[in-house]
Amino acid sequence: MLMATKKHIVIANRDVLPDMIDSLRKEFNVTLTPDPRTKDKESFEQALQSANGLICSMIKLGEEQLADAKNLEAIASVTVGYDNYDLEYLTKRGILLTNTPDVLTEATADTGFALILATARRVVELDMFTRQGRWKRSIEPELFGTNVYGKKLGIIGFGRIGQAVARRGHYGFGMKILYNSTTPRLEAATPLQASFCELDPLLAQSDIICVTVPLTPKTEHLIGEREFNLLRPGTIFVNIARGKVVNQEALIKILQEGKIRAGLDVFEREPLPAHSPLISMSNVVLTPHVGSATQETRKGMAELAIENLRIALAKKRPPNLVNTQVWEQGHIHAKTL
Ligand code: DGY
Repeated sequence: MLMATKKHIVIANRDVLPDMIDSLRKEFNVTLTPDPRTKDKESFEQALQSANGLICSMIKLGEEQLADAKNLEAIASVTVGYDNYDLEYLTKRGILLTNTPDVLTEATADTGFALILATARRVVELDMFTRQGRWKRSIEPELFGTNVYGKKLGIIGFGRIGQAVARRGHYGFGMKILYNSTTPRLEAATPLQASFCELDPLLAQSDIICVTVPLTPKTEHLIGEREFNLLRPGTIFVNIARGKVVNQEALIKILQEGKIRAGLDVFEREPLPAHSPLISMSNVVLTPHVGSATQETRKGMAELAIENLRIALAKKRPPNLVNTQVWEQGHIHAKTL
C-alpha cells in the first residue's frame, strides 16, 4: 500500500507549545524557524520554499516574501488582525489565510482597561515614585490621577473587542458609552446603553477614548492632528488596535504639549525604537503590543491556528477563513470541471 507523503508545515511562532508541535509531527513534516522579523530571515525563506502550510503572526507577507513558496496552500495566523498580509496577492495565489478571533477578545479588552486605569491613576509614575524612595509624606496634588468610574468612554471600532471594552465600562465602572463604527450596532449597543456617535463629537465629548478599530486603508491615520485638537484637556487616550490607525507624530506633539495622557500598546513602528520621544514621557503608559499576551489566551490562539491549518490542508473550509473568495472561487472552479 502506498503511504501518502506528509505535508510540510513551517512554524515561525513561539505560542505553539512543544506538546502541540509533537502532535503536529505525527501528521506533518514540521520545520521550526525563528521569527524572520528578529533574526535569520534566510532560514525562514528557505523553509517556506517547500512548505504547504505556515503558522506565524505579524510577519509582513506578500509577493516579495512568498514568490518562491510555490507549494504554499494555507497560512494560519496566530492573530486576529491581518493587516500585515497582502490579501489580494494571497487570494490571487489561492493561498488560504485564517486568523484567531474570539479567543483573544476578553484578554485584549482587559489590556485596554489595564491601560485606561494605569493611565488615569498614573500607576507607572507612582510606582517609580515609590521605588525611587521619594515617598516621604503623602503625595502632592500634582501627582493625583483622574477618576474612571462614571466617566464618558468613547470607543472607536465596535467589533468584538470594542464591545468587550464597553461591557467593562458599563457594568464595572458605571460609564456612559459612546461608540463609533461604520454603521450603528444596535443589538450590541442597546443592552449597554451605548450611543452611536460620529467620530468628531466622540473625540470632543469623551473623557476616555479607546481605539479598537482594525487597520485598513480606510482607518490608516484615522486620528491625526486635526482629530487630536478636538480632544478636551486631560483626555485619556488608549490605543490597543494598531499603531498606524493613529498619526504617531501628531500624538507625540499633543503629548509633549501636556494636553492629554495616553496608554499605548501599539505603535507605528514595532518594536518601539529606543530613541522614540514616547520613551521619556511621563504622561504615557507603554506596553509592548501585549493585548492578547496571557498564558491561557496565547495557548487558545495557537490551538485555534492549528485547527484552522489542519482543516485547510485537508482541503476543507477552515472556520476562521479570512479570504473567503479563495474558497468560493475554488468551489466554482471544482464544479465547472
Ligand atoms: C492580534 O491578534 O491582532 C494582535 O494584535 C497581535 O498580537
